[in-house]
Amino acid sequence: MSSEGERSDAETTGGDPGRGDAGDGKFGRYGGQYVPEALMPAIGELTDAYERYVLGNEDGFMDEFRRRIREFGGRPTPLQRADRLSRRYDTEVYLKREDLLHGGAHKLNNALGQVLLAKYMGKERIIAETGAGQHGTATAMAAAHLDMPCEVYMGERDINRQRPNVFRMKINGSAVVPVTTGRGTLKEAISETMRDWATNVEDTHYVIGSVVGPHPFPRMVRDFQSVISEEARRQSLERIGRLPDSVIACAGGGSNTMGTFHNFVDDGGVDLLAVEAGGSSLAVDEAEGVAPNSASLSTGSEGVLHGARTKLLQDGDGQIVESHSVSSGLDYAGVGPELAHLVDEGRVTPVNVDDDTALEGFHRLSQEEGIIPALETAHAFGYLHEHHEELGEVTVVNVSGRGDKDLDTAIEETAQRDVPNAPDMSMFEGELR
Ligand SMILES: Cc1ncc(COP(=O)(O)O)c(C=O)c1O
Repeated sequence: MSSEGERSDAETTGGDPGRGDAGDGKFGRYGGQYVPEALMPAIGELTDAYERYVLGNEDGFMDEFRRRIREFGGRPTPLQRADRLSRRYDTEVYLKREDLLHGGAHKLNNALGQVLLAKYMGKERIIAETGAGQHGTATAMAAAHLDMPCEVYMGERDINRQRPNVFRMKINGSAVVPVTTGRGTLKEAISETMRDWATNVEDTHYVIGSVVGPHPFPRMVRDFQSVISEEARRQSLERIGRLPDSVIACAGGGSNTMGTFHNFVDDGGVDLLAVEAGGSSLAVDEAEGVAPNSASLSTGSEGVLHGARTKLLQDGDGQIVESHSVSSGLDYAGVGPELAHLVDEGRVTPVNVDDDTALEGFHRLSQEEGIIPALETAHAFGYLHEHHEELGEVTVVNVSGRGDKDLDTAIEETAQRDVPNAPDMSMFEGELR
């Protein structure tokens, strides 16, 4: 079907879709479908829909997706030269402006794709989880756009950290369901959403927010997000006349990194750098069950979380430890299985910066380029600052999201720390104490 009865581009151009093969869901030793029996019918149905509509373009699904992400989302996003950062680092720095995508982050590429897919599958209800609220917001927008009821699970702690996004979801007509288990962040929200999906598989589609979860989610989310690198690669050739030496993107679950890297993976000369949240320390406190970071690629070990084998922050008994980051969207103990595999293969280099460096990156991009980044994105600019001499002549950094959602956190965290490049914070003191 074609939603809203519109003729898709494929129909008008007479496309002849085939049926793709979703593969076995393995990326080397990672991935798979470690789910309860009750979820297998839903996973099977989704895999079938992914093969037919996304890989096979049945009924012109991908044409409709591309049209909507262009018209509703505002694609293509620009590849912009960062003049002042280029001067500062004496190198060419280009910004892929996903912050300019509708909703203010890359998340809409995947959310719109999956909500549209749910419609093609005949589902009547959307559920999603969210950490920073960006994926929840994107899903709420896509659900409103495509006239689907939507419920978003969100950890209580994240609800407090990301109030503007909670309100945005509600304004768009979605219900926000608080999750109070554990530490009240993304891990618990994903578990709750999986439980909902298992009990309501008949009419409900779970729009997962990153390249995580059981097959086919990691591949499908990557495919929707890979529009970023498809554009960035083409724009680099057109605008700069060559491919970049380095591509940098921040990594939480990994949808931003996989989307930004995917079309460069076969370009051996392009270094791919996934910047994780180093938090306050890279150590794991086994006694407390806490890792004051979210650097699962850099420091994690192999295990199973949310339906996939991947790299995780866990203790010696295989218990998932609580992660931490100043940015909610990176605060997750796992990472997508494909990214874990590309790291093992040596194709993607995992790096990390701590909370302080990320905050400096937040202020620097704001002051020098007039772009207030999300705190997640700010990690990539912290890394750029610390390592610009190692990056070659041309670097592309993906600005995964804008920072409006983070202003409260940025005021609080900046006031509490000694951030050398922060503006004078004295006028905020009265409000904070
Ligand atoms: C702006 C932004 N960048 C990056 C991320 C990290 O998620 P992922 O690694 O799946 O892209 C988030 C998550 O909410 C985000 O909001």
